[in-house]
Amino acid sequence: LLRAKENGQLAGKRVLVTAGGTVERLDPVRYLTNDSSGKMGFAIAEAANVMGAEVTVIAGRTSVDAPAGVTVVRVESAQQMLDAVLERFDQSDIVVKSAAVADYRPVTTHGQKIKKSGETLTLELEKTTDILQTLGGRKKHQFLIGFAAETEQLEKYAMDKLTRKNCDLIVGNDVSQDGAGFNGDTNIVQLFGPSGLIEAMPMLSKRETAQRILVIAAQRIAEGTA
Ligand code: CTP
Ligand code: CA
Repeated sequence: LLRAKENGQLAGKRVLVTAGGTVERLDPVRYLTNDSSGKMGFAIAEAANVMGAEVTVIAGRTSVDAPAGVTVVRVESAQQMLDAVLERFDQSDIVVKSAAVADYRPVTTHGQKIKKSGETLTLELEKTTDILQTLGGRKKHQFLIGFAAETEQLEKYAMDKLTRKNCDLIVGNDVSQDGAGFNGDTNIVQLFGPSGLIEAMPMLSKRETAQRILVIAAQRIAEGTA
């Protein structure tokens, strides 16, 4: 990292990171969300800042504080995250989609607290827009990094997401492994590019994981591999 900092490997680059989980409102006191802590996204933002980039984080619900030295924009829903990201996409050089975006949201957000009545309650959910896939479809000069959280067949699903969402890198995350995924301070990731596995990293702190991902991204951008 020291070398990266001295070289300012991401100097002059504008990096847009999403972090945390989205919040999909059911009524004024209830919502659907997920276990994301925001730690991985914030670690990416911090590492990019150290490497000399100008960093903006679009953050959903997080359980830790954002790093110093980066611009933080708070959002709740997947739709708000999509709008915030699209607003800044043209001016971004690297986009890292580490947020855990809800795949479904309640069809209806009630203005008043839902009162209990029957013995069962069925919620109707509808799909959210896939933010990463939307970006992949509009990509011009941007280098796009996505995540894939899986509990099985990591390589297959990660490569499938890379292709479908037109990403330059996918960070594959086997969230069923101890020491990987949500909430902890460590992660175990495999980094994939368009031609397959680039690196299977050992268990590392999220900070170290973030640095390694960005060093590889910076190399590929410099080489024009993107
Ligand atoms: N993602 C997104 N918008 C969504 C859902 C996911 O931008 N509505 C992004 C995530 O931020 C992540 C990547 O897509 O970078 C993969 O997310 P993941 O949940 O692993 O994959 P999905 O495509 O949602 O598929 P599934 O949950 O069925 O595995
Ligand atoms: Ca998903």
